[in-house]
Amino acid sequence: MAKIVGAFASSHTPLMSLPGADWGKRGVDDMRNRELIRPSDGAHLSYEELLAQADPKIASEHLHEDVFISKFNNIQRSLDELRDRFVQTNPDYVVAIGDDQDELFFDDNYPTISVYWGDSLTHYPRNLNRPGMTEATRIAASVYGTEIIEYPTDPKLGLHIIEQLMERDFDVAHARYLKPEIGGTIGPATWYLDYQRSTVPRKQGMSHAFSFPVCRWFGGLRPKMVPITINTCYPPNWISPRRAYALGKAVREAILNWDTDARVAIVASGGLSHFTVDEELDRMAIKGLETANGEILTSLPRYKLQSASTETLNWVAVGGAMGDTKMETLCYEPGYRSPAGTGCGCAVGHWAV
Ligand SMILES: [Fe+2]
Repeated sequence: MAKIVGAFASSHTPLMSLPGADWGKRGVDDMRNRELIRPSDGAHLSYEELLAQADPKIASEHLHEDVFISKFNNIQRSLDELRDRFVQTNPDYVVAIGDDQDELFFDDNYPTISVYWGDSLTHYPRNLNRPGMTEATRIAASVYGTEIIEYPTDPKLGLHIIEQLMERDFDVAHARYLKPEIGGTIGPATWYLDYQRSTVPRKQGMSHAFSFPVCRWFGGLRPKMVPITINTCYPPNWISPRRAYALGKAVREAILNWDTDARVAIVASGGLSHFTVDEELDRMAIKGLETANGEILTSLPRYKLQSASTETLNWVAVGGAMGDTKMETLCYEPGYRSPAGTGCGCAVGHWAV
């Protein structure tokens, strides 16, 4: 039977790829972000409203170039360490858990869980001339490289996982190929998403939640992948912590039921809290992962899980998939980048078995 040989996860915020000296530039971008949340109660506020109420310690303790640089360097060391461990593990397959942000899925048909089981998935480097792209996101986009990668995905393991999930009462969507051009709208929906986001149809391949690990910490390895996309970010059918954890558990059972001697790793990227840093939520999630405590992971407070902080649920799913195996945190940096407390909880973690 197949074996699970470890799990690997990291955040994928631009802060993971934007040199510390430039973090302030990303802070300026936040002034026009319409998805800002107050960590204490989940209220949806404007940048100005957040700024007026923000703890002055954010500015005095965090918003200095030397602090940015030190956090960035720690993140890079941890990502390098994760890459080295991934290369050393050298899995035959990866089951990747990620989300999609205005990439492949829109409101014409947005699945809560979708498993890709085609032969390959194309990674396209970022279009650096995209309208509206800021300097900070342009610099950070270099992590996605300059080469198109035809990444191998695995129809056999993909089909096996779909069938096993269906047997376990998960009504998953599936995909075997992508349309030549994909676009659409998202929102307005319930809760925090009170406006419409629109993407003109364009060529789009592998979503960033999968591309980031491939480009940043797969170390040139190309183990066959089964990408599982969960809708973390967009109401109304966004996944709950309980369901994300249960999905991970069912994925584990599916892998262990696969009648091969394959060595399979679980990978994920995204989170932790953003676009306002919520250290309380981040530390709660990390505690649940470090102690392999399903109770903590399945009861992460829903009012805090809004906007892209919900990407933390990719990690929760990995927690479910890894059962009693505890995560080792390679780094956690609260990536504050503006006096309003905007930024991202940046984390890197490894589950060794
Ligand atoms: Fe993301």
